Amino acid sequence: MNSATAVSPANIAFIKFWGKTDSNQNIPYNDSMSMNLSGCLTTTTVEFDPRLDDDRIVINKFEASGSGKQRVVRILDIVRREAGMGLKAKVESANNFPTASGIASSAAAFSALAMAASTAAGLTLSKRELSRLARLGSGSACRSIFDGFVYWKGGKDDRTSYAYQLAPVTHWDLWDIVAVVAKESKKASSTQGHSVATSSPYFRQRQRGLPLRIKQMKEAMLKKDFPKFGRLLEEEAVDLHVMAMTSRPPIFYWNSGTMEVMKKIREWREEGKEAYFTMDAGANVHVICRAKDEAEINQRLGRIAGIESTIVNKPGRGTWLI
Ligand code: PMV
Repeated sequence: MNSATAVSPANIAFIKFWGKTDSNQNIPYNDSMSMNLSGCLTTTTVEFDPRLDDDRIVINKFEASGSGKQRVVRILDIVRREAGMGLKAKVESANNFPTASGIASSAAAFSALAMAASTAAGLTLSKRELSRLARLGSGSACRSIFDGFVYWKGGKDDRTSYAYQLAPVTHWDLWDIVAVVAKESKKASSTQGHSVATSSPYFRQRQRGLPLRIKQMKEAMLKKDFPKFGRLLEEEAVDLHVMAMTSRPPIFYWNSGTMEVMKKIREWREEGKEAYFTMDAGANVHVICRAKDEAEINQRLGRIAGIESTIVNKPGRGTWLI
C-alpha cells in the first residue's frame, strides 16, 4: 500500500501557544491546552508514486508552490528518511471550513498529513511520534492527534515537545460555535506572529502568570467549573491579542464583527445566558457554551449583523484514518 487518507480536526486553544524558543523545530515558550473541533475537518490523501519526479501538493483544489509547498515537503522528507525510501508523493488536502482565518486550518492540515504520509510510507508511529511529526509542520497540529481535550507539553527540544490527552470527548459537553466574521485569509500568519511575540512588552508578564493560569484552567476543566473556566478563557484570549497588538510590528487580528460578538456575549451573561469567547490568530470568535444553551446562542449569533455564518462544534476526536 502506497496510499493513505486521514481526517483531522482543527482545535481551539484554551491556553495559547504564542512565541517559539526554536522556530525550526516549533518549540514553544509555554505549554498550551485545547479542544478538538468536531465540525472543522481536513481530509488529506498521500500517495507515493514511482511515476512522479516531483512532489505535487494540491490544497483545496489549488496546486501549492513556494513556502506553502516547502512546509509539506519537509514532512514528506522526514517520512521518506524514516521509511528508507525515495518515492515522490501526490498530496491532496481539503478543508470543510475557511482556511487561514483563525480556525487553526494548519493544525488540522499538518496532523492529517503526518498520519496519512507516515501510513502511506508503511511506518507505524505511536501517537506521541505522530504528535511530534505534526508539530514540525505547525506547532498547534501536535494537539489535533489526540481525542477530546488535549495538553501540549512545550518541552525544550524535538524529543520532549509533544501533546497528550487530558480528557476524552465525553468528558464535558462544551460546544464551540465559531462566529465567522471574516472568511478571507488573515493578513498576518501565526508564523509571523510567533516571530515577533517577544517584542511585546507584555510577553514576559504573561509568561510569569502562565503557570498559575494553566494550573487553574486545568482544574476548572477537569472539575467542569464553567464560570471559572470561562473567566480564564477570556483572560487568556485577550492577553494573546494584547501581545499581538503591542508587538513590533503590531498585528491586529480583530475586526468590528469580533468586537460586536464579544460585547453581545458579555451582555448575554448579564441576562443569565452563559457563554464565553476566545479567538486564535484571526478575527473569528469561538463562542464556548454548554450543550443546553447551544441552540439559543446559535440563534442569537445568527441575528448579529457582521456574522456571515456559524460553525457548530462539539469536542472532537483526534486524527483518524479512513
Ligand atoms: O500552530 P500555529 O503556528 O499556527 O500557531 C497557533 C497559534 C494560536 O492559534 C494563536 C494559538 C494556539 O495555541 O493554537
